[in-house]
Amino acid sequence: MNLPGTSAPRRGLFISFEGIDGAGKSSHIDTLATWLRQRGHEVLVTREPGGTPLAERLRELVLHVTMDALTEALLVFAARRDHLQQHIEPALARGATVLCDRFTDATFAYQGGGRGFDLAVLRQLETWVQGGPAGLRQPDLTLWFELAPATAAARRAAVRVPDRFEAQDEAFFERVSAAYAARCAADPRRFARVDASAERPAVWAQIEAHLQTLARA
Ligand code: TYD
Repeated sequence: MNLPGTSAPRRGLFISFEGIDGAGKSSHIDTLATWLRQRGHEVLVTREPGGTPLAERLRELVLHVTMDALTEALLVFAARRDHLQQHIEPALARGATVLCDRFTDATFAYQGGGRGFDLAVLRQLETWVQGGPAGLRQPDLTLWFELAPATAAARRAAVRVPDRFEAQDEAFFERVSAAYAARCAADPRRFARVDASAERPAVWAQIEAHLQTLARA
């Protein structure tokens, strides 16, 4: 019997944001966090690689130190393991909404698509890191910011000093983009495509529409 106030809280929603560097996803995460908080949700805003002290240290290495593709894959999954255990799972368990700037789709897109690393190894790591009694931990919704690699490159050039990924050529980002498109096609229920070439308010309107659809589901 569930007494008032003693029932387990409903598990929170897990939303990830994906897209190539320069697609403009990060600037919308805070807007969405405010939108959700105004509607009474507890929100955790976080990112990958990163989100915990250990994972942020691994992020520094992954973004700035030269390493081979397997080392890179192991480090992003090691960071993800700590992030899931320390932050994401406890937040979801207490009913918070988790907004995560990138998650495992980025590994399949960047290490798998961009670097051409073995997808079977990535799937194995994913099973070890995200597997649990209830199956594989995945976002409930993934907002994929789609933007032509040439447009994203022009946006990046205007604003920042590149890290190891941002310094890659356009062919790399074409492969990353194609990998995102393939993952979106393979899992259309989880993915929601956002046309990131639109003006900022029009991009936000698409996000809001996807959230309303999720709330009705
Ligand atoms: P990003 O999230 O774009 O942050 P910022 O806006 O501060 O640059 O940068 C993280 C980079 O890490 C991005 O280039 C993609 C890369 N990445 C991977 O290669 N694999 C992964 O699994 C994740 C999560 C990120």
